Amino acid sequence: MTQPIARLRRLRSVELRTHASAASTDFYSEVWGLQVVERGTEGAWLRGTGDQHHALQLTQAERNGLGRISFALATPAEVDEAARRADALDIPVISGPGPVDDAGGGYGVRIVDPEGRVLELVADTLAVPALGRDDAVPVGVTHVVLNTVDIDAAVTFYCGVLGMRVSDWSEHQMAFLRCNSDHHSIAFNQAQWTSVNHVAYEMPTVDHFMRGIGRLRHHGVLPLWGPGKHGPGDNTFSYFADPGGLVCEYTSGIAQVDEDRWLCRVWRRVPELSDLWGTAGPPSKQVREHMAGVPDPGFSALAEPAS
Ligand SMILES: [Fe+2]
Repeated sequence: MTQPIARLRRLRSVELRTHASAASTDFYSEVWGLQVVERGTEGAWLRGTGDQHHALQLTQAERNGLGRISFALATPAEVDEAARRADALDIPVISGPGPVDDAGGGYGVRIVDPEGRVLELVADTLAVPALGRDDAVPVGVTHVVLNTVDIDAAVTFYCGVLGMRVSDWSEHQMAFLRCNSDHHSIAFNQAQWTSVNHVAYEMPTVDHFMRGIGRLRHHGVLPLWGPGKHGPGDNTFSYFADPGGLVCEYTSGIAQVDEDRWLCRVWRRVPELSDLWGTAGPPSKQVREHMAGVPDPGFSALAEPAS
């Protein structure tokens, strides 16, 4: 295996294509706890309390899908090197390397993974101060779970090409991948088709997590699954559907990995391990349908001219 094209520092943000961008923008800003930093005719950019310019970009589309996942690299030189190595590996480079013409700025390159997902590797994004609020609102995006038709191929690409490491498996159904000390920034779920399973937002503590769930309840929004605590990752979870039907999660307390000591495990998929507290019960049919989403052709569809 060749060396990875880059060293990913962290997950920065996620762009979701949604058939309900206006209603979803209202939901994420007025209920979920993000703040709109920019709004255009096509969608909106929203931030958490952390130091990223934005955590979520919503783009109006005919069908739900992934717009792109953005990872931070340390320097523009690393972006250039990533682009060069991607090209050498015949990985599609669809823009850059160069200045990013988008909210948040930066210097980046966009590549396409084997299932058509657009990945952005970016450095030198606009600095924003953390908000320093203690409300029960998200810091930012902390992980994305992706449905894949070939979990082994997905893991091979994200580990081999992007340098991620497998923290744990959940049988041969899910793989949890890290790029820093967080137990997972990306996870793959073996599925019937490629799609976004859910996007998770970090709450600073369990108290913030529970108060956030309470605020949603006050707005009449109830969890589709949770609150509970997962075995792999040791993080709390509570899953909701946004107005477009995409799944969003509040989470807290993700396990921190010491690279020198961590041993990857294969977890059995039994209720006492996927719901450590025993509070959540099994996932509902409704949440499983939302997590399956609709087939996402990815970049090939994005690149087609609108008809
Ligand atoms: Fe999650």
